[in-house]
Amino acid sequence: AALKRVCLIGSGNWGSAIAKIVGLNVMNQPDVFEKEVLMYVYEEIIDGAKLTDIINLEHENVKYLPDIKISPNVIAVPDVVQACTNADILIFVLPHQFVKETCEKMASAVKPGALGLSLIKGFVLTEGEGIQLVSNIIKNTLDIETAVLMGANLATEVASEMFCETTIACHNPEYHGILSKLFQTPYFRVKVIENVAGVEACGALKNVVGIGAGIVDGLGFGDNTKAAVIRLGLMEMMKFTKVFLESDDISVFFESCGIADLVATCHGGRNRLLGEAVVKSMKYICHSSYFEPFCLSRLFSAAAFSYNHSSRHMMFQVLYSHHMAKNSCLVFTYFIYE
Ligand code: 13P
Repeated sequence: AALKRVCLIGSGNWGSAIAKIVGLNVMNQPDVFEKEVLMYVYEEIIDGAKLTDIINLEHENVKYLPDIKISPNVIAVPDVVQACTNADILIFVLPHQFVKETCEKMASAVKPGALGLSLIKGFVLTEGEGIQLVSNIIKNTLDIETAVLMGANLATEVASEMFCETTIACHNPEYHGILSKLFQTPYFRVKVIENVAGVEACGALKNVVGIGAGIVDGLGFGDNTKAAVIRLGLMEMMKFTKVFLESDDISVFFESCGIADLVATCHGGRNRLLGEAVVKSMKYICHSSYFEPFCLSRLFSAAAFSYNHSSRHMMFQVLYSHHMAKNSCLVFTYFIYE
């Protein structure tokens, strides 16, 4: 079979960590993959030098993943069209607010029959269309099948080769083998399943619960409280997927993308930091002005601002879109009494 050409669209903290894995796996399987992996890097100037030049000379993303070497067959390029041209597998790992415009730029260059793979944990909220799965935006804009990879994968830990698991979901079982080959390492254990929307929803929704866990930390509450937030959060995630994805598949919650990522995020994720910072820095901020069409995780962040310190209970409101295709909101409220 023809060798598969892989590209990376994005190069932040997670993008660089995954570039390390993909670069080495591609190099070590010359019978399966083309050696060169182009990585689209949003160009920045660091101490007078272009970030792409630094990555290509030092094989290190000094800004977003310092002290970790990326294999030299990963080539940083500032042009997304160049990055994706002729690629058979396109790995998307950039902030979700840039996915649509980036795909639009790539649309005429993407090879027909290519496979997309999203590592992006979030939903996109678009005016008039409501909440959308990032994988659907990629799929619909580029007209390619799109898989997802989600799991308890804090980027710096993965980059340091600490053992973890991940979940890949792809509708077409014919791709399962190649996706394993591309990502599996002794320390990064891959399981491939088929429920794309379920896995992706886990990756987006656990961030909300992470904010709640941060609020718990900010309040100085203990592990029992955080465990309660994690349990309640998991139940909410299950309810969300049942109602909005109309899915009864609860098995995804027991994969790395489910309970494991939830636990990792509630202890070490940036949304946890956000929740904690909100509690420590301010007493009460009204969230009502945040009802604007932008990415849902920002909406969730806004929701966490409604924490009210003086009432001696924690209120954690999560705004869920009433339907994947409508903009109306449901409000779920967690009350955790002292
Ligand atoms: P962030 O720190 O980017 O929220 O990542 C947490 C995570 O997704 C761990 O799997």
